Amino acid sequence: MSSMPHATDAFWMPYTPNRQFKEQPRLLASAEGITYRAPDGREVLDGISGLWCVGAGHRHPRIAEAMRRQIDTLDFASNFQVGHPGAFRLAERLAQLAPPGMDRVFLVNSGSEGCDTAMKIALAYWRARGEGHRNLFIGRERGFHGVGFGGISVGGMTNNRRAFGTALLRSDHLRATWDPATQAFVRGQPLTGAEMADELETRIIPLHDAGQIAAVVVEPVAGSTGVLVPPVGYLQRLRQICDRHGLLLVFDEVITGFGRMGTVFAAEAFGVVPDMIVFAKTVTNGAAPLGGVLVRREIHDTLMQGPPHLAELMHGYTCSGHPLSCAAAEAMLDVLHDEQLPQRVAALAPHFENAVHSLQGTPGVVSVRNIGLAAGIELAPVPGAPGQRGAAAQAAAFDHGLLTRAPGDTLVFAPPFICTPADIDRMVGRLYDAIVHVTREAP
Ligand SMILES: Cc1ncc(COP(=O)(O)O)c(C=O)c1O
Repeated sequence: MSSMPHATDAFWMPYTPNRQFKEQPRLLASAEGITYRAPDGREVLDGISGLWCVGAGHRHPRIAEAMRRQIDTLDFASNFQVGHPGAFRLAERLAQLAPPGMDRVFLVNSGSEGCDTAMKIALAYWRARGEGHRNLFIGRERGFHGVGFGGISVGGMTNNRRAFGTALLRSDHLRATWDPATQAFVRGQPLTGAEMADELETRIIPLHDAGQIAAVVVEPVAGSTGVLVPPVGYLQRLRQICDRHGLLLVFDEVITGFGRMGTVFAAEAFGVVPDMIVFAKTVTNGAAPLGGVLVRREIHDTLMQGPPHLAELMHGYTCSGHPLSCAAAEAMLDVLHDEQLPQRVAALAPHFENAVHSLQGTPGVVSVRNIGLAAGIELAPVPGAPGQRGAAAQAAAFDHGLLTRAPGDTLVFAPPFICTPADIDRMVGRLYDAIVHVTREAP
């Protein structure tokens, strides 16, 4: 716990139990590499890469320098009917990193905006093809696609849906890929369960008709609901079914993009090419807000029609492709390449897997699952109070010097890519201490 230098009333904190936090504020004052410092100088290791975004470590000098140079050259320029070189350069580079054919890039400021943008592109695409009746989106239970109205409609995170009703867009949902009976302590991808994808063809398409469906939107690995890893072959099957029925497939790679799976995109790691990829977070190493959608060229080209003086897609944000964000992202792409960060993740992943699975057998741990540099450690819930133990464990981890997050009763562990095996061990040691602490206090 850290003392607050200021009054806390005015700031309505996002995704935070405000009343509890303000009773017991936990502040971060500075950061470097894999380490935050509290205002009193206490070390807090970053076990969640900020919020799944600081893969290259905090305050990377090359990113800081690029941003400094940019702010001294061009602080702001809109990309509405004028442009600045950084956005074009960045888009070209992103297109080169994307799977073949996905070489058109729409820039936004966040993952939520990226998801809503991908959904609007899908709607506009079908309209342009004379199929405007395709306006149903298929997501997945326990999927998270940000907080825009599109994202919460297609998302399957219970609390978002509970608070905001069924939202605005028509949607239906596949079952989550999580099966506690067979996956509780699975290492990497489960070997069985690919057939969970068949529900798209056996239930959803017959119920709604393929001609109603605008797109299927999934995270390759569901991150925010506790790291749910797709079975081997599952994403391939989804792709095949989408192809058979002419459906667009959107991968939300807000968490998986830019290294966390040991490749630049999860599409590459899993060998499945979607029609659009939504990205954000790690693309700037968290140093500035930026997101975007990589779009298959045919989708883009279909929309390049209408009166030549009118925008082909009536969509965009004031800060879409902000110069400072583009400078941060370009520097991050240099760092990813020069420091071989995806390769480092791939090399570190086996050690990471062993380390997190060493928590199996710790009292209260009911599941451990992992892929790349992401793991979910699930705790038995307090009877009648789901999420309470997770929240307590997250707070205890902070007090033991580790930043993590607990969606529900699962502790999510996703450290920076620059960690050494010894860093991972130190972090897992603190996770262990936090878990023991909260299970000792169990009611
Ligand atoms: C898979 C996924 N999609 C979308 C989002 C939303 O991104 P943002 O918070 O940048 O709007 C998140 C955020 O965690 C995410 O994990």
